[in-house]
Amino acid sequence: MQQYTNYSLLQHNTFQMDVRAALYVEYNSVDELCKFLLSQEFENHRNKFIHIGAGSNLLFAGDYSGLVLHSAIRDLAVAEDTREHQLLRVGAGYVWDDFVAYCVGHELAGVENLSAIPGEVGASAVQNIGAYGVEVCDVIERVEAIDLQGNPRIFTKEECQYGYRDSIFKKELRGQYIITHVVYRLMKSPTFKLGYGDLRARVEAEGEPTLSAVRKAVTAIRDSKLPDPKKLGNAGSFFTNPVIPSEQYEVLKTQYPDMPSYPIDDTRVKVPAGWLIEHVGWKGRALGRAAVHDRQALVLVNKGGATGKEVMQLAHRISEDIYAQYGIRVVPEVNYIQ
Ligand code: EPU
Repeated sequence: MQQYTNYSLLQHNTFQMDVRAALYVEYNSVDELCKFLLSQEFENHRNKFIHIGAGSNLLFAGDYSGLVLHSAIRDLAVAEDTREHQLLRVGAGYVWDDFVAYCVGHELAGVENLSAIPGEVGASAVQNIGAYGVEVCDVIERVEAIDLQGNPRIFTKEECQYGYRDSIFKKELRGQYIITHVVYRLMKSPTFKLGYGDLRARVEAEGEPTLSAVRKAVTAIRDSKLPDPKKLGNAGSFFTNPVIPSEQYEVLKTQYPDMPSYPIDDTRVKVPAGWLIEHVGWKGRALGRAAVHDRQALVLVNKGGATGKEVMQLAHRISEDIYAQYGIRVVPEVNYIQ
């Protein structure tokens, strides 16, 4: 276990905020985590701690006066192998895109559309990451976690209560469990999901679809729209796409006929927040050192030296403008850490 005080989090948040944690602890095994949770050190910090992954969905308002925990559990093992599928049990600290690369490299299907998403395996199961028509809950079999007293618990996929960018770990059980491993079900014969945008055209331009062709196409689409956090600090989509009642959408549609939407069920539709942000005029605009990305309005960026508070102010201004014009509340997907 590694433990540091007054520790710089610059390498641990993709917004590139130069903030410090009062205490930073990284553990290498479930055993180390359990021992730490029973220690006096943890007891002293129980009231103020966060668990981070790669910090790709976080925005620190400033220095963090509590404990930051991080998993370095990075094992990967085959938990079940049949003619149709493999179950892979993967440590929470495994880098998500390395896991996707492993699956594609072993001809295991299910996560190829989720290529090039920053972050780690543990957070994938909290956030229910999604892209290009696939959500990670589609392939999650179960989630292994530890409560704050060090007791293990296994959650079935159903118990995780997955929804769009949502899970029980973000709601009722927020801050109560630490995910140590995720078990994914990968298929040996692929069912390609190419319906999103121009994915099919890009993949088929290479010939018969393959897992690696999908991975390559998704990576290329992301590279063309999304800024590289190493060059321009950001946390991907800043807001979730708002879900509104179908009746409200029908009224808006008469006023704004080109407003896109995706049906959720008979009563609700999802409206792209990027479209709303662009249409209230914020795309490419800056407020101080924080700005809205010029190729994908859903992404807020740190132009260099921005504080978390500056980014939060920009987000607030955007959401007020959207509410004033469309009567829709956009909610940050990024977690604000105070
Ligand atoms: N749009 C605009 N202007 C913009 C951006 C988007 O008008 O600047 C409109 C367009 O009509 C476009 C529609 O929004 O057709 C959807 O845009 P896009 O396909 O880029 O997807 P998104 O809804 O903006 C979501 C995810 C992304 C994911 C893509 C692809 C959320 C919050 N975001 O974005 O996830 O990569 O779909 O599946 O659901 C992330 O979570 O960090 C992320 C990048």
